[in-house]
Amino acid sequence: MALDREPGQDGPPIHELLAQRWSPRVYDPGHELTDEDLRTVLEAARWAPSFGNVQPWAFVALRRGDAQHAAFTELLSRGNASWVPRASAVVVTAHRVTEDDGAPVDYAAYAAHDLGQATAHLSVQATALDLHVHPFAGFDHAGAAALLEVPAAWQVTIGVAIGRLAPPESVEASDPRLAERDRRPRARNPLAEIAFADRFGTPLG
Ligand SMILES: Cc1cc2nc3c(=O)[nH]c(=O)nc-3n(C[C@H](O)[C@H](O)[C@H](O)COP(=O)(O)O)c2cc1C
Repeated sequence: MALDREPGQDGPPIHELLAQRWSPRVYDPGHELTDEDLRTVLEAARWAPSFGNVQPWAFVALRRGDAQHAAFTELLSRGNASWVPRASAVVVTAHRVTEDDGAPVDYAAYAAHDLGQATAHLSVQATALDLHVHPFAGFDHAGAAALLEVPAAWQVTIGVAIGRLAPPESVEASDPRLAERDRRPRARNPLAEIAFADRFGTPLG
């Protein structure tokens, strides 16, 4: 059963950068992401570990107000179109699926994992910069690959909205559902259901 608690309330406290990270939908539409902050969060992604250090990740940054960002927002699913455009930037991620010549790669099973870890680094660094990050998969991936000219050896994976958090009240009048989403308690499965000792299914003591 899922728990409706914030980190640290039903388990040992975790680092504040991890505890403070969450995926909001109400962003400050006036906030501009500085070049330095953008480079810093991508630098954090760059230093993630990866299978054989192959670094099978790539990122395309799109800033709110730019033509490519506007074109990308046309590709969002209906649910995501209500909030992604407010964020200061979107970073579209991709992981490598073949060599440039189409030959298979021997790390194919781990490339998406490694990109995910790089994205986690990005999120934690963003939290340290007082920014919030919300990953999202709901968009036209083929359309994004074409728009962003992503080579065939790479698979567009997710979008990552980055920006400054705004209070739910700021959208209460225009989009009460969005405000309600950001007020919802966050939930996780109990540790006993996912972490085992010695054998899968044997709860950690
Ligand atoms: C691969 C991936 C895809 C996601 N896709 C969407 C999405 O399309 N729209 C959305 O609102 N949230 C999306 N999310 C965000 C998750 O719903 C969110 O991370 C989860 O509910 C946990 O909430 P938290 O990040 O606030 O802890 C996605 C997250 C991941 C990792």
